[in-house]
Amino acid sequence: MTETALRKPAREAAPEPVANTRRLHVMTWGCQMNEYDSARMADLLTPHGFGETERAAEADLVILNPCHIREHATEKVFSELGRLRQIKEGRAAEGRSTLIALAGCVAQAEGEEILRRAPYVDLVIGPQAYHRLPELIEARRAGGPVIATDFPAESKFDALPQNGKARRARRVSAFLTIQEGCDKFCTFCVVPYTRGAEVSRPARSILEEAKTLLAQGVREIVLLGQNVNAWEGEGLNGRPWRLARLIEELAKLDGLLRLRYTTSHPRDMDEALIAAHRDIPALAPFLHLPVQSGSDRVLAAMNRRHRAADYLRLIERLRAARPDLALSSDFIVGFPGETRADFEATLALAREVGFAQAYSFKYSARPGTPAAEASDQVPEAEKAARLAELQALLAESQRAFNQASVGARLPVLFTGPGRHPGQIAGRSPYQQAVHAEGPAALIGELAFVTIAAAEAHSLRGRLHPDAVS
Ligand code: 5AD
Ligand code: SF4
Repeated sequence: MTETALRKPAREAAPEPVANTRRLHVMTWGCQMNEYDSARMADLLTPHGFGETERAAEADLVILNPCHIREHATEKVFSELGRLRQIKEGRAAEGRSTLIALAGCVAQAEGEEILRRAPYVDLVIGPQAYHRLPELIEARRAGGPVIATDFPAESKFDALPQNGKARRARRVSAFLTIQEGCDKFCTFCVVPYTRGAEVSRPARSILEEAKTLLAQGVREIVLLGQNVNAWEGEGLNGRPWRLARLIEELAKLDGLLRLRYTTSHPRDMDEALIAAHRDIPALAPFLHLPVQSGSDRVLAAMNRRHRAADYLRLIERLRAARPDLALSSDFIVGFPGETRADFEATLALAREVGFAQAYSFKYSARPGTPAAEASDQVPEAEKAARLAELQALLAESQRAFNQASVGARLPVLFTGPGRHPGQIAGRSPYQQAVHAEGPAALIGELAFVTIAAAEAHSLRGRLHPDAVS
């Protein structure tokens, strides 16, 4: 627990809601954390008179919230900014002003460079300063500063509104950020630099937000954090709690049908969290646990601080606690110095675990990270070939996992209408998309489905007769 997270910020009284007189357009790409942040920014601006619009051309304020973790996002940002500049000039000719704000990790890492090349950007705001958005917008209108990327002393979590409705209404599954930042410093990763050190939210404010979500009809909560299982927040008893204890408390809340958490680091899977997978029925038997590589040499160079065997042993312990646990992972191929033998160790690990799903990426050198300086970069064509080989293996593993579900009777949490009229869609406990014929009234409910067929990326099934009575 950091001191920062414990300190209560001096918070101004929330302004009275006013009619939506200004239009806001938010453009998001990247991880779930970015989506969550965009939703919170929209929520934050609602009481200040901003209503959301789908069309950038109608917006008085456009916020770009791009991701920076892998590809060089800057070029994509410039192409969007070029389009927004035209909109801004067109609106100015009609006497309407448009504020353009750049948010997120790209703002944090490359804000100054972007302002040099695109001086028509009005506001550059780092991920730790979102809660100051209304104040920064007003200051900017009055000719104030453009850049807000310092990490402020107070925790932004406590200053963000807890009851935003702008985006959350009618959603069955919702994200809830409980932790941000990362102290792990994997040598390929920008997160410790862009999101800063690990900060955990106190349990009380997480539980309050969870209750608000459940009151709005949310039935599944996905706890988010760059390093979510490193969460160590102030507990209800004032003492530090770890994630398993928080999950235990959340699972008691009325209306909560399912709970997940992402993304975890193998080093932070403690005994209590493993046991939670055995003991807490609401906790989904699904875990996203990035391994990145199966080679000890590469894992060491990545500063992952575990070996392949440690990861496999952890999976064994998890499966001993929860035999049907489905696993997901992230992989990087072509890390500097990765040989064919290293890559084969990754293939072997993937084969051994049998992932239900996985994400895999070509290593991309991120400026400012140690691995970007390495002299033994793997040629692009080799990276592409390895990625294709790994992805074929992972796709086969996913297909086998889905195929093994055929004939099973699974509790599906229905989240929305299906692709065809009369269909509804939801998720199995193992995060598989499931489609079934059924009434819309089941959306937001758990119902048993017998899986009839496995398609490329989803399952098809029949509702259990009791579910439709
Ligand atoms: N190159 C490729 N993949 C990366 N990731 C993070 N940084 C990089 C990078 N520089 C991947 C990791 C991480 C996921 C979120 O993105 O696999 O787990
Ligand atoms: Fe990046 Fe995850 Fe490593 Fe942290 S643990 S440095 S977020 S890859």
